[in-house]
Amino acid sequence: MSHCIADAVDTGTRPDPAEFIRANMRIAAVPAIPEIRLYTAHPGSGLRRLVEWNQHGIEEVGPEPEPPYWAYIWAGGAVLARYIMDRPETVAGRRVLDLGAGSGLVGIAAAKAGASEVVAAEIDRNGVVALGLNATANGVVIATIGEDITSGPPPPVDVMVVGDLFYAHDLAGRVLPFLDRCLGAGIAVLIGDPGRAYLPRSRLRLLAEYEVPDVGEGRNAAMKPSGVFSFGPASCESRPSR
Ligand SMILES: C[S@@+](CC[C@H](N)C(=O)[O-])C[C@H]1O[C@@H](n2cnc3c(N)ncnc32)[C@H](O)[C@@H]1O
Repeated sequence: MSHCIADAVDTGTRPDPAEFIRANMRIAAVPAIPEIRLYTAHPGSGLRRLVEWNQHGIEEVGPEPEPPYWAYIWAGGAVLARYIMDRPETVAGRRVLDLGAGSGLVGIAAAKAGASEVVAAEIDRNGVVALGLNATANGVVIATIGEDITSGPPPPVDVMVVGDLFYAHDLAGRVLPFLDRCLGAGIAVLIGDPGRAYLPRSRLRLLAEYEVPDVGEGRNAAMKPSGVFSFGPASCESRPSR
């Protein structure tokens, strides 16, 4: 990726993410989870103005700024959040980490379902701000980790929730060994996914399936079945669940 770079300090035009989100996105109920409301992008949001500023406050003027995944509702996160709201016992009284939290939808569902503590790990700094605003809008508290924890040790939690994180080969290659270490530490791992290319199907047991729209397929995405899975050890590999 090549970028033409301008100095943010000199231009002084870097938007404040929280102000930008509040001013340019609309709070709306999530279609499959009306109990939860999120700051949602719309055609007039002009998100590109925000995402063109990178982690270092440098304006990136090029064709490929980091996509604002946090601004959208993903099928994998939507089904996992629905499942948690329908079965609060999955997380109630337990410590939960939402890996690749994006908007924070799954973590918010866990907090509303009675998790004793929710931590969201998200590498996009705008996403960290957005999920904080979304948590507040839903009356819940979520701690955030704004860095990649996948090369580190398992965090001190009981349940790891992973919404729609198997869309890229390199990311799946980092996430899988991390989830294995989490399993080894006794952490239950739940995955929500519409069947992305790098979903580790042979490691999954289907728990539930819901029809939700898939943002990854465009604005007029058709409803499609997406699954909630329990992730298991490689030594107990079973037949693909679907
Ligand atoms: C497709 S979105 C899914 C968001 C959310 N889980 C959901 O289902 O709505 C993937 C998110 O993972 C984040 N992400 C990618 N790699 C990550 C990593 N190594 N650690 C934490 N977050 C990551 C991206 O920035 C993005 O917000």
